[in-house]
Amino acid sequence: MARDGPPVRAYRGLARGGDPKAHPEPDAKNNAKDTKLKALYKAGAEPGLRLVDRPEPSAGPDEVKIRVLRAGICGTDLHIQAWDAWAAGAVNAPLVVGHEFCGEVVAVGDKVRDVRVGDMVSGEGHVVCGTCRNCRAGRRHMCIRTSGLGVNRDGAFAEYVVLPESNVWVHRDGIDPDLAAIFDPFGNAVHTALSFPLVGEDVLITGAGPIGLMAAAVARHVGARLVVITDVSEPRLALAERIGVDRAVNVATGRIVDAQRALGMVEGFDVALEMSGHPSALPEILANLNHGGRVALLGLPSEPVEVDWSRVITHMITIKGIYGREMFETWYAMSAMLRSGLDISPVITDRFPAADWPQAFATAAAGQRGKVVMDWTEVD
Ligand SMILES: NC(=O)c1ccc[n+]([C@@H]2O[C@H](COP(=O)([O-])OP(=O)(O)OC[C@H]3O[C@@H](n4cnc5c(N)ncnc54)[C@H](O)[C@@H]3O)[C@@H](O)[C@H]2O)c1
Ligand SMILES: [Zn+2]
Ligand SMILES: [Zn+2]
Repeated sequence: MARDGPPVRAYRGLARGGDPKAHPEPDAKNNAKDTKLKALYKAGAEPGLRLVDRPEPSAGPDEVKIRVLRAGICGTDLHIQAWDAWAAGAVNAPLVVGHEFCGEVVAVGDKVRDVRVGDMVSGEGHVVCGTCRNCRAGRRHMCIRTSGLGVNRDGAFAEYVVLPESNVWVHRDGIDPDLAAIFDPFGNAVHTALSFPLVGEDVLITGAGPIGLMAAAVARHVGARLVVITDVSEPRLALAERIGVDRAVNVATGRIVDAQRALGMVEGFDVALEMSGHPSALPEILANLNHGGRVALLGLPSEPVEVDWSRVITHMITIKGIYGREMFETWYAMSAMLRSGLDISPVITDRFPAADWPQAFATAAAGQRGKVVMDWTEVD
């Protein structure tokens, strides 16, 4: 799907230069008044989702309208479907849900400069304010007014979605749509895995969900020495073996310290990536870390976690929280690593037509498979 053609600016300049045929599609596709699309909708503050007809959105001046091709199901979507305490506190229902997706640009607003109709894109689902201290300093992933696609504004489980141009990532090298659909969680994995240098290090990853599995692949790709992953799900540990970890430990039946011994490790792990959200994971990490070890925390615990702070202090351990993706350094790293041979395709285990969304959600909720994607071109 690589797209050759005139330089981006020249192309847009031509379109703006007054030649009405240079850029004929956007207005036609953008002028969606009275047309409807199919979308997965959270109608109000209650459990459940419904596939309904919604008004088709149009791109504003700085926005891009995208025909959704594939979309990934995230734990967040399952929380919103179930309408648990987190969802009740965080989600602006009614709205269209979903934030992991890829698609093809069908219309761009007047002020859009670099994104073109026909581009294959993924979306960064964190829409930032642009004016807070962190935004102005270029630390947009720390914006104090982040609005989440499919959480605070209409999301991507729909035939079309609209995003600011600055939130769109164009795949210039060509990419499999299933992979492009999961750049959001892939970005969580990359942001976390690259937060500390991994070359030659022994890395422990707790949680072999889709994000932990992708982080294991990244750690391998960037030159970690040993990679050990934990989970309590045998099918997910088997996926980890396929990805090429040195040990996949079921912590329901085995111990990380035994894996260390079996691998000939004597001083503990250098870096740990917490990707389970389970309250027992961080204490287990601290018990298996070398002095001076570093911990990146991505998993969101649903209850308070007990930490042995004396150990953290006397072992000089660094703990860093990770949220979202760095905009857009993480995105550069993702595309670059795929280009240099990183293979995360084993993580995607299931694809359903969007029309079969209940089965897709049930498969994701069972927690025994890898990433589940939906095909939004098959919604009828
Ligand atoms: N900080 C962020 O920006 C951000 C973004 C996305 C996801 N998350 C969080 O990251 C985590 C991973 O996401 P995911 O989509 O891969 O989730 P997931 O729920 O699919 O994966 C978590 C895995 O942890 C396993 N697990 C349960 N108990 C365990 C234990 N004691 N030790 C080791 N593993 C255990 C589960 O079996 C599961 O396979 C989740 O907690 C999610 O909420 C955070
Ligand atoms: Zn997600
Ligand atoms: Zn901001």
